[in-house]
Amino acid sequence: MKAQLPLHGGDLQQASECFDVPVEQWIDLSTGINPESYPVTKLDDAAFQQLPYLSLKFLQAAESYYLGEDNVDLGVDNLLAVSGSQAVIQLLPECLPILPVLVPELGYQEHRLQWQQADASVFNYPSTELETSVSFINESLQQNSRQHLVIINPNNPSGLKFSPSQLKVWAKCLGEGAYLIIDEAFMDTQPDQSVLVQHFESNMIVLRSFGKFFGLAGLRLGFVFANKKLIQTFQKRLGLWAINGPAQSIATVAFQNKAWQQQARANICKAAKLSQILFNPLFSCLQQGQKNTHCVFHEALFSSYGLPIKQAEELNYFFAKRGILLRLIHFNHEYALLRIGTINPNNKAGIRRIQETVDLYIAQVAQ
Ligand SMILES: Cc1ncc(COP(=O)(O)O)c(C=O)c1O
Repeated sequence: MKAQLPLHGGDLQQASECFDVPVEQWIDLSTGINPESYPVTKLDDAAFQQLPYLSLKFLQAAESYYLGEDNVDLGVDNLLAVSGSQAVIQLLPECLPILPVLVPELGYQEHRLQWQQADASVFNYPSTELETSVSFINESLQQNSRQHLVIINPNNPSGLKFSPSQLKVWAKCLGEGAYLIIDEAFMDTQPDQSVLVQHFESNMIVLRSFGKFFGLAGLRLGFVFANKKLIQTFQKRLGLWAINGPAQSIATVAFQNKAWQQQARANICKAAKLSQILFNPLFSCLQQGQKNTHCVFHEALFSSYGLPIKQAEELNYFFAKRGILLRLIHFNHEYALLRIGTINPNNKAGIRRIQETVDLYIAQVAQ
């Protein structure tokens, strides 16, 4: 290994430097992005030529996609389009009161990082097992209700999911100036579980990512939902023309295409099953003789497998050297997770390469 491991999934350039594999040869399973992306057709020249003022059609399509047709709690004044939900994660410490922040121990690390960089006191809650997490958060809020609570729902990489009613209860518990930040980047496969549908409270900030479900992460589009005043604050900070014209055009039709969305949910299920079938032999083989040392989390767009650190690093290296990029996530001093995304079921050559690599590793272990 030559260079530092990439900080985030999907960084093929850095992975290439690290493992000496040409960029174009990777099978990238290191993200949770839908491998069967929304098909982008030819766009009007105007989308490129004109300044990208927010189009009404785009906003209405987004409102209808995220909020449904008869949402009584939220409307177009409560949403803001941003260039990826990461843009809001970076902005939050500047726009909210600096209070202690409770973040998931295991979860998209940018939340922790941004608050730490703003010198906030950041505390962890356990984020792999529902009951433990709920009772930890309850206790922490009882001790101090004036803290921001960050929930990634469902959690990436642990898949932990809280019910919208539980989130509403926590929002109501929070003291003055404290916000419940709910990152729903992976919620599109189960939209009825979003707090946006019926459980919104004015001290919630909800983030949605366009790139994951629609498989268009490069478009850089996301949305934030919050009370009107906070939306205005975000808007002022982000300024004009945040969403480029092509992104608005593509998202407008993608939001309206219910048939594609329905098919995509079914396809994502199939791809998840395929990914599990491909990797299960490997993890069952490693599990033999080491009962209770592994945990497995399955989410629609990824599965995460807990392993002793050394084994996880070895596996990650073994696959990477053969051009298959997984995501290694250090968990605690004993365990690391290997998070594995889905492969497009039509990528027959890629599937064969994964199968051969799994077989090769199993054969080595058996020796
Ligand atoms: C949980 C979670 N939230 C937010 C993001 C940021 O996504 P984007 O900026 O593409 O919307 C990611 C990216 O991987 C993520 O995993």
